Amino acid sequence: MSKEFDVLVIGGGPGGYIAAIRAAQLGFKTACCESNPYADPKGEPRLGGTCLNVGCIPSKALLHTSHMFEEAGHAFESQGIIVGKPKIDVTKMVARKSGIVDQLTGGIKGLFKKNKVTLLNGHGSFVAKVDGGWQVKVGDDNVTAKQVIVATGSKARHLPGIPVDNKLVCDNVGALDIDAVPKKLAVIGAGVIGLEMGSVWRRVGAEVTVLEALPDFLGAADVDVAKEALKVFTKQGLSINLGCKIGEVKVGKKSVTIAYTDKAGAEQSLEADRLIVSVGRVPNTDGLNAKAVGLALNERGMIEVNDHCQTNLPGVWAVGDVVRGPMLAHKAMEEAVMVAELMAGQSGHCNFDTVPWVIYTSPEIAWVGKTEQQLKAEGTAYKAGKIPFMANGRALGMGEPTGFVKMLACAQTDRILGVHIIGANASELISEAVVAMEFGGAAEDLARICHAHPTLSEVVHEAALAVDKRPLHF
Ligand code: FAD
Ligand code: NAI
Repeated sequence: MSKEFDVLVIGGGPGGYIAAIRAAQLGFKTACCESNPYADPKGEPRLGGTCLNVGCIPSKALLHTSHMFEEAGHAFESQGIIVGKPKIDVTKMVARKSGIVDQLTGGIKGLFKKNKVTLLNGHGSFVAKVDGGWQVKVGDDNVTAKQVIVATGSKARHLPGIPVDNKLVCDNVGALDIDAVPKKLAVIGAGVIGLEMGSVWRRVGAEVTVLEALPDFLGAADVDVAKEALKVFTKQGLSINLGCKIGEVKVGKKSVTIAYTDKAGAEQSLEADRLIVSVGRVPNTDGLNAKAVGLALNERGMIEVNDHCQTNLPGVWAVGDVVRGPMLAHKAMEEAVMVAELMAGQSGHCNFDTVPWVIYTSPEIAWVGKTEQQLKAEGTAYKAGKIPFMANGRALGMGEPTGFVKMLACAQTDRILGVHIIGANASELISEAVVAMEFGGAAEDLARICHAHPTLSEVVHEAALAVDKRPLHF
């Protein structure tokens, strides 16, 4: 059976489902195929990709529950709330998370119906260039589309000699489904997943040891933020070991033993009930039959694209984790909208300089733009304003005095070059900085905008004032 569409999107994650919805909104006859690796009771394709099924959403659900648990155990009493020692029901915590995932993945199916996107169940792989488009095999069907958007995303990178069974040794998939609090949890990789998932299981009672290869902590973050984060997370009880070289990993019946060389060169051995391997992600390009049609990949297996997400093949686009740039859901969605609009002859655009980063630990970490070390390295003259949450009434009232907002602005023009936040609700606060930077705003612009009192956003305001050395509350 052959099916014909204007646009075929391969992959139903944030990049794919948004591309499909926007393309359909713009009048294209659109289909999206999904190869469905996630367990679905009805055997139907589950939309939402990594993000909804085994990424952003389930991790944030577990982070929320574990944060509430920690608050109940450690923060309630100081505010006069006496509840006794809380207990965690991991089965219920994980079931709640799964319920949220079901609700949202189902919701995207509803959005497909509403926007008249055809959902195709099956793995998509290129067959050939045909007159007026591309032939793609989806499951047992042949689909022809004038234009194809590849949004096949990414999967966890595994390490040689460390087989992941998602029971004792987990990647992100198993880490979100652990059925009981491990007494000892080892994590390889102190990146975003390591810190978020390490925090979840530490809060509910696991003794967590993180082994990181690099000598520096959170190298992509601003140095001040990384320094503060290391201090705070260590105080919370995460044992973070930098400069480690992982050796042999032995998987027993009930435990895992990890041999490693520490920063000082000493041989160490760590025994744990569970191991999470979170050492980055690799693009899903292996099943695309890319070679047969000449789709260019880079040395890391990512699809080569230009700033408009055009590949080397006419009418073939690629967005999200499968192409260069940060592996973030909102970046994938921005690219998806841009591509659909460019296909429709509109002026789609994606500003990669204002893509925000968030790490959903407690305190949260968020940033946009350049770090102080980047500005120094490129020789840009800058001014900095840094204000602690400790100086903010709302933060104290919330019992969240940790962290700061740091704003970096051009020494000559005052244009905001970067904003770095570690503190409560940093994930929400960063939006103001993104908007300001998107509009080419100066620190003075934010300094002259009225911020509601008492709010955490006043710390962003004060940081803008501090760039010009005139903070009012610090
Ligand atoms: P994916 O979401 O990976 O979706 C690709 C889809 O394509 C998948 O459903 C896959 O089954 C399907 N597919 C692959 N090959 C084929 C094929 N040949 N045919 C048909 N279908 C195919 N990002 C954030 O911005 N914020 C967060 O808080 C966040 N938290 C995360 C937490 C974890 C634990 C992880 C692992 C990731 C997290 N991310 C987060 C990253 C985010 O999930 C990804 O950046 C995002 O999902 C990328 O979207 P995508 O559409 O490019 O790819
Ligand atoms: P990551 O790139 O954030 O961190 C991986 C860490 O593992 C790095 O610090 C790296 O130095 C370390 N590492 C690599 N090889 C190692 C080895 N052999 N031994 C020890 N350490 C080693 O990758 P992570 O945490 O797997 O997350 C993948 C991606 O998923 C992130 O980069 C991000 O794009 C996305 N993500 C985003 C989230 C968010 O936006 N809040 C949350 C979780 C994931």
